[in-house]
Amino acid sequence: MMATNVRITDIVEETPSTKTFFLDASLDYIPGQYVMVWIHGVDEIPMSLSYPNAITVQKVGDATSALFKLKAGDRIGVRGPLGNGFVLKGKSILLVGGGVGTAPLAPLAEKAKNKNISVKALIGAKTDRELLFVERFEKSGDISIATDDGSRGYKGTIIEVVSKLDLQEFEGIYSCGPERMMSQVLNIAKNTGMTRMAQFSLHRYIKCGIGVCGSCCIDPSGLRVCRDGPVFNGEQLMDSEFGKYMRDGSGRRILI
Ligand SMILES: Cc1cc2nc3c(=O)[nH]c(=O)nc-3n(C[C@H](O)[C@H](O)[C@H](O)COP(=O)(O)OP(=O)(O)OC[C@H]3O[C@@H](n4cnc5c(N)ncnc54)[C@H](O)[C@@H]3O)c2cc1C
Ligand code: FES
Repeated sequence: MMATNVRITDIVEETPSTKTFFLDASLDYIPGQYVMVWIHGVDEIPMSLSYPNAITVQKVGDATSALFKLKAGDRIGVRGPLGNGFVLKGKSILLVGGGVGTAPLAPLAEKAKNKNISVKALIGAKTDRELLFVERFEKSGDISIATDDGSRGYKGTIIEVVSKLDLQEFEGIYSCGPERMMSQVLNIAKNTGMTRMAQFSLHRYIKCGIGVCGSCCIDPSGLRVCRDGPVFNGEQLMDSEFGKYMRDGSGRRILI
């Protein structure tokens, strides 16, 4: 699939480290799907869609810093939507998001509300200022917040909030965020017999995005995050590298 050149129409500063880039193209997509974003002359990187016509980006390195320098009117390349996205099931669901990982969960919450599915969102961030899309979650259902420094909501991790809930109330769990957080969600889901009902959006090094280069495969199944994922259910991730290690751009293992 070729990249399409699109124009940035608007840039919204969401948090001190995160901006949403609105584009002049609207994509027909499933929340959880991503696009490969070509920042001309720099790199092509995966980004979840946070709206049909937008990506929400945290500045972490070269490509994202270059993106942050662009202005409304500038162009980027977009390839996608790619990957599978979240499968919505049941009448009552729990969303567990951390940091910029909440970006694909906000449109999922909106889609669920439109389908009359009851949504409880648990959103964590380092501080109040780093919380993303709180209003979108509030409009879609019930929300609980945790911040590391206690500047808003529960003081501590979102996992401590999850552990206080009766998970049997929910028919699905959807999680995106730091892998340490997601692997603890998987453990809790496992202990309550909800492994298959829990879905996780994985972060792996994505190069081709179409399943041919092998850079994003998960040990030992060989499932490709770019094409078989990025969303997997807990059963697919049991006894895998998930929560233990991932590979960098050159294939070296990095402990999680
Ligand atoms: C399916 C998917 C969806 C994502 N959605 C979002 C999102 O909505 N918002 C957001 O801010 N970030 C998202 N990311 C992470 C984003 O792709 C990285 O932050 C970005 O690639 C960093 O590039 P960089 O050059 O600025 O940083 P670098 O300094 O090059 O890298 C910093 C870190 O980013 C990761 N990274 C770098 N290049 C890639 C790559 N090609 N593929 C995967 N990871 C990479 C690595 O873990 C690396 O250690 C997503 C990643 C994946 C796999
Ligand atoms: S990124 Fe190439 S196979 Fe997944």
